[in-house]
Parts: sequence; C-alpha cells; structure tokens
Amino acid sequence: MSARIDALPEGITTLADYEPLARACLNPTTWHYLHDGSGNGLSLAANRQAFETVPLIPRPLVDVRQGNTRLTLFGQTLLHPILLAPIAYQRLFHPDGECATSMAAAAQGGAMVISSLASQSIEEIVEAGCQIGVAPWFQLYWQGERERTLRLARRAEVAGCPALMLTVDAPFKQSTLVLPEGVAAENLEQPLMADQVPSGQSRVFQGWMAQAPTWDDLAWLRERIRLPLIVKGVLHPDDAERVVGLGCDGLVVSNHGGRVLDGAPASLLALPPILSRVAGRVPVLLDSGIRSGCDVFKALSLGASAVLLGRPYIWGLACAGAFGVAHVIRLMRDELEATMALCGCAELSQIVQTRNL
Ligand code: FNR
Repeated sequence: MSARIDALPEGITTLADYEPLARACLNPTTWHYLHDGSGNGLSLAANRQAFETVPLIPRPLVDVRQGNTRLTLFGQTLLHPILLAPIAYQRLFHPDGECATSMAAAAQGGAMVISSLASQSIEEIVEAGCQIGVAPWFQLYWQGERERTLRLARRAEVAGCPALMLTVDAPFKQSTLVLPEGVAAENLEQPLMADQVPSGQSRVFQGWMAQAPTWDDLAWLRERIRLPLIVKGVLHPDDAERVVGLGCDGLVVSNHGGRVLDGAPASLLALPPILSRVAGRVPVLLDSGIRSGCDVFKALSLGASAVLLGRPYIWGLACAGAFGVAHVIRLMRDELEATMALCGCAELSQIVQTRNL
C-alpha cells in the first residue's frame, strides 16, 4: 500500500453526501463505470423505489441499552450485517485499491468480498484484512472451464478466505470499460472473455455464452469446495430451491446493482418469495440499492440475514481511501443502530418480528 494519508472530507453526515464528492474525484469514464445501470436503468431505479415503499413502524419505550448488531455468518463472527460487495478493479478508484477496502472492512468488524476481477493479489488483500482481524471472502466468476475455476477457488482458500461466493447472474462482460495502464485483473490466468465469435454463428449463444457455467458445473464445483459456497445473483424461487438442493450454503438475492438484465425486478421485491421457498434452510443475503442503515433494517425486516453494500463504499474509497470506506460503514452502522433503537430492537434477530403487525 502507498504511504499516502487521506483526510476525510468535511461536512459529511450521510452516505449520500459522499456521492457528489466521489464524482468530483473520478474521471467521467470511471464515474460512469461505477454509477450506471444497464440498458435504460430500469432495474437500477427499481432497486431504490422498492426500499422507499417499505414502511418502518416506531416502537418506543423499549429498553435497548444492551443493544448490539453482532451476528455469526458461515462460522465467522461479525460486528454488523453489512458486507462489502465484490466490486472489480478498485485501483481505478484509489491507488490503495482493494487492500484499503479490506483494511476498512476489518477495522469496522465486517468482511469484504474480494472480486475475481480484483486489481491487487488475493494474498495481499487477505493479509490487509487479517492483520486487523477479519478475513475477506472471495467472489468467484466462472473461469471458462472447470479446472481453471477450481484453481482460482483453491487459491482463495489457501490465502485464508473463509467463504466463496459464486456470481451466476453476469455470464458475460457487458461493460465496454477500457482499463488504464497499470490496472488489471491481477488474479486471473487469462482474460475472462475471448471476443472472437465463430463465423456464421450467434455472437451470444455460441460466442459469449460458450464459456458460461451451467447447473452441472455448479454441482461439480460444490462437490470440490470445502469452504461455504454462496451463490450470488438469484431472483427466482425455483433457482433458490435448486441452489439449496445442490448443497450450497447460502445465496444472495441480487440484480447485480441493476447492471446486467435491465428489467430484472428489484432484489428487495424478489426476496419474500425466495425466503418462503428456502424456509430457513440456509442464510439468504441481499444486495442492490442499499443506501442507508434504514435500508439495511428494511432488508432484515423482510428476512435477509445480512446485506452487501456496493457503490456507496466505493464513493468513500474514491474520496479518502481506507478512511473513507471505514467512514461509510460507520455511518451505516450508526443509522442501522438508530433505526433499531427507534423500532424497539436490541438485536438483529428481533428485526424480522417488526413486520408482524
Ligand atoms: C459490481 N458488482 C460485481 N459483482 C460481482 O459479483 N463481481 C464483480 O466483479 C462486480 N463488479 C462490480 C463493479 C462495479 C463498478 C459495481 C457497481 C458492481 C456488483 C456488486 O457486487 C453488487 O451486486 C452491486 O453493486 C449491489 O448494488 P449497489 O449496492 O451498488 O446498488
């Protein structure tokens, strides 16, 4: 990591205050890569609308003086339920990249999920978190073939990641981002997507999708992975059922922050039918559209075990490196605790009961 010391920006009181500051720190291309949704941005907008329609009912006069937000997830004890979602190429946003994120997450008693497309080595990112006391998880993108995918998974396991998250909802690259000199996917044996298309064949079916994983591949991987395996990018209850049936340890209800299939429902709306089907057999996490501690409370009140935060922590990273990321998480934790206190909850497990009106 560089020796650069970032100062926290002044006058920040909520996460939203970071957004315009981050935009001012980044060049327009990088900003659009971070911010934009796919297509017309329908799913991106739907994520926010969904959170806005969930009401919170105040429950005064409850003694919450012993309150806390601790939880145990896949065997790891965390101080709060806000994980940092896998986000690619973090050295685009700050020279300290993923190592800064890993340190900040650990300093706040939570875990980050390292992207397969990280711009620093898995080992150094794990080391940055572990020296503060929390090991990051690893997000796996299918690497075109089974053995190559397994090698990447094993590398993360050997490095010390306690859980693996296989992302299944983005089987091909949609972004047209051209990486600047010095920023690359440091941990991949070869680029994810060959751009060649067999002549006379479909660019999509025989081209982009040729290297995408199938249910058989997931079953194959599950049998070979000892770590908890969580599948990210599930929006249909039948798929959730199949993921659980294959012996996976958890799933993330996500529309990838509105970045893949434009028209996919808000993940918050997809959550209740999936929870009904999963029926408590594995933890169900949620991401896409979380912008405050209130949103975390709302997701947990519908039954999510934890959430993943995406773009907002990158705003903090862009503005002030590790300090900015830690500040973003702290702001969210404070908002979550305040919402719990006002809704009469001293522990996370009580939040889901607030929906039983
Ligand atoms: C992502 N996301 C993502 N997901 C993943 O599994 N692997 C990845 O490498 C990336 N990369 C990535 C880059 C950028 C710039 C963004 C914004 C997102 C998706 C991410 O993990 C998460 O699902 C969404 O960001 C959650 O939505 P919000 O919180 O950004 O609305």
